[in-house]
Amino acid sequence: APRYPRYTREEVGRHRTPQDRVWVTHGTDVFDVTDFVELHPGGADKILLAAGGALEPFWALYAVHSQPHVLELLREYKVGELSPEEAPPAAAATGDPFAGDPPRHPGLRVNSQKPFNAEPPAELLAERFLTPNELFFTRNHLPVPAVDPGSYRLRVEGPGGRALSLSLPELRSRFPKHEVTATLQCAGNRRAEMSQVRPVKGLPWDIGAISTARWGGARLRDVLLHAGFEEEREGEWHVCFEGLDADAGGAPYGASIPYGRAVSPAADVLLAYEMNGEELPRDHGFPVRVVVPGVVGARSVKWLRRVAVSPAESPSHWQQNDYKGFSPCVDWDTVDYKTAPAIQELPVQSAITHPRPGAAVPAGELTVKGYAWSGGGRPVVRVDVSLDGGRTWRVARLAGERPPPERAWAWVLWELQAPVAAGAELEIVCKAVDGSYNVQPDSVAPIWNLRGVLSNAWHRVRVSVRD
Ligand code: HEM
Ligand code: MTE
Repeated sequence: APRYPRYTREEVGRHRTPQDRVWVTHGTDVFDVTDFVELHPGGADKILLAAGGALEPFWALYAVHSQPHVLELLREYKVGELSPEEAPPAAAATGDPFAGDPPRHPGLRVNSQKPFNAEPPAELLAERFLTPNELFFTRNHLPVPAVDPGSYRLRVEGPGGRALSLSLPELRSRFPKHEVTATLQCAGNRRAEMSQVRPVKGLPWDIGAISTARWGGARLRDVLLHAGFEEEREGEWHVCFEGLDADAGGAPYGASIPYGRAVSPAADVLLAYEMNGEELPRDHGFPVRVVVPGVVGARSVKWLRRVAVSPAESPSHWQQNDYKGFSPCVDWDTVDYKTAPAIQELPVQSAITHPRPGAAVPAGELTVKGYAWSGGGRPVVRVDVSLDGGRTWRVARLAGERPPPERAWAWVLWELQAPVAAGAELEIVCKAVDGSYNVQPDSVAPIWNLRGVLSNAWHRVRVSVRD
């Protein structure tokens, strides 16, 4: 057998672009696939996501690769082997509160490592209606708690000082399992576009702080009724949630939703223990999280430890002093959090996932793809796409089935084909319309706010058409 040169993972990692050559590993073999990139049936953009690292985490998402002819093809590009002393990266140092965080998929675009905040790359975001768990965006404010499922108990404060303490098997067996397909979106999705108008405070999310899963769990309604609450409660009441993750001062992550939404059978609020048919991954709230469809992600509390009904909203910082919208005239000297309501239902949203900004697309038929979604269960009824900055419009084709009225919890993926001429400079724009005829604002400046939340202006992508 031929002897191949040995490389470290670090050396492989230096080959991420066609200019530097595109290297990947599979098992302990190293391949230079630069010449295959343009030939890849799945597209050059996708293969480049794995450049400089291991193929396995990506191939695990696309089963087409588990055929013998794919490995045979790969073998032609072998240029080396990993050094035998190459071990998986050493476990994190002691004293780091994030040392116990779970491993993550290398394809995620990381906005902050500690706490972990990451989004799927736009190239993979809307490839599938259900986002694979490994790629689902992650928004953590604190280290991921290590929960022993055997000793886990969910505390539900009932009326009159009574409380329920539910183990995981009790939550699974005492309440019917209910499944809901719902999109979660962070209030900060598309914040990066807002910072281009004026700086804002927050993580620079691109268009990927949004993902969709099929969630399975007990209905919050069933658990509350079991704890002794009635369907109707006079006056103003809120259902407050606390997570097992706590800050340095011991304050847990918390949030609340109005009582009416929590007990409404039509609102589909879940205490979820399953995500896309698997147990919840640690980053997404193992073993139990709240899923509030149609509502900002911040209320879907992960690693849920306590549920309580209160006349006031959650006292948590994240309910009281964050995740609120303000006028563009409000700055950090004048902001008064008490004057604005906490964000619950989100406004209508859409974005272009393909092509990417700055791309050079071939002349001929161009396919534009993206997602659209609205809060409160309002369906997306139309997506308009322009190739000339908004002067003329076409209507995109919406994929998927029509959702039940008022329960459109999941995004729609859309597509538009249009002829484009060589040499043209295109400004592709998309905007969605929801079932209440809510539309997206045409520009960012009038909705700019100091925290960079609720960024839902028309999405604009400039590309050039190759000669
Ligand atoms: C399809 C090879 C990396 C995504 C394919 C096919 C081959 C191939 C031969 C066609 C399979 C068939 O239909 O029988 C490779 C090789 C890779 C690589 C040699 C690395 C050196 C990747 C990566 C991704 C990816 C990193 C995703 C991030 C896809 C997709 C298809 C595909 C989505 C399906 C295309 C379609 O059917 O429309 N790949 N691939 N591939 N690949 Fe890859
Ligand atoms: N729950 C806990 N306990 N801790 C958190 O940091 N982040 C919230 C929410 N629930 C958070 C939480 C925010 S802001 C969002 S957008 C969603 O979880 C993100 O859920 P995901 O990470 O599963 O995508």
